[in-house]
Amino acid sequence: MVFCNDALAGLHIVISGGCGAIGVGIVKKLTEHGANVTVNDILSYQLATARLSENGIDMGKINYVKADLTLADETNTLVKVAREQFGSIHVALCHIGMVIPKPLLTYQAEEWDETMAVNVRTAFLLGKAAAGSMLEDGVKGQLIFTTSWVADVPWPEIGPYNASKAAMKQLMRSFARELADKGIRANAVAPGIVSVGLAKQQWDTDATYRARAQKAIPLGTMQPLDSVANAFLFLCSPAADYMTGAVLLVDGGCSLYPMDNA
Ligand SMILES: NC(=O)c1ccc[n+]([C@@H]2O[C@H](COP(=O)([O-])OP(=O)(O)OC[C@H]3O[C@@H](n4cnc5c(N)ncnc54)[C@H](O)[C@@H]3O)[C@@H](O)[C@H]2O)c1
Repeated sequence: MVFCNDALAGLHIVISGGCGAIGVGIVKKLTEHGANVTVNDILSYQLATARLSENGIDMGKINYVKADLTLADETNTLVKVAREQFGSIHVALCHIGMVIPKPLLTYQAEEWDETMAVNVRTAFLLGKAAAGSMLEDGVKGQLIFTTSWVADVPWPEIGPYNASKAAMKQLMRSFARELADKGIRANAVAPGIVSVGLAKQQWDTDATYRARAQKAIPLGTMQPLDSVANAFLFLCSPAADYMTGAVLLVDGGCSLYPMDNA
């Protein structure tokens, strides 16, 4: 990737769910390009910092804040602590996600609620709190939501997840519409079937999923983590300054396939 090492110098970026499989790759990429990053997750401080440093992240460029972002109070505390440590927030990445893989007709109401709370409610709460801080600080910042190619494609046996990602996409577009005149932008990164994290767990444990997924990636291999991190690097950089309300789809062509052929 041809971006200067200081492409993100001077930026303070907050990421939720930043200790997850994709999160650590994003944090590494952003810090390597000069950003200070406030990393949020629900892991203990010890576990979180061990995971981040094991992945070769420069710990001088990050601050870890444990908080459950399904809760408004904890989200507001995250934003407050982030500003105290690294100053005004320029970009907030609403990145938390979870999936319960099973057929739609077997889902319990509680499982639907949990999926929506972890995926959509956390994105709304962080987007709202971070955008509020940008307005207070006079920052022309950006919100970036991690959606998925399945926001537009009904991939089988993760129905509520598909619906949650579609909701996040429209939430992103709503933030973009309402905040554009205040100089605050909102965009999304939509990855495909990534070689780490939620998809990899299913790939490794569910033969039906693996057989289906193997046929669904036109470029032929699971998505490299670096390709997701590069999309975030681009969107956080000044190269993307004129983008708002956009979904950056980086899925190896998954969404090109009609499901009947998969
Ligand atoms: N892995 C894929 O193939 C794939 C594809 C497309 C999109 N995505 C999206 O990318 C994002 C990251 O996925 P991943 O595969 O790295 O998953 P992951 O499970 O490895 O990471 C998710 C992180 O969110 C944290 N988290 C969960 N609930 C939280 C809460 N209430 N407050 C704070 N943190 C919380 C978890 O502790 C975890 O570290 C998700 O939004 C996911 O939907 C993943």
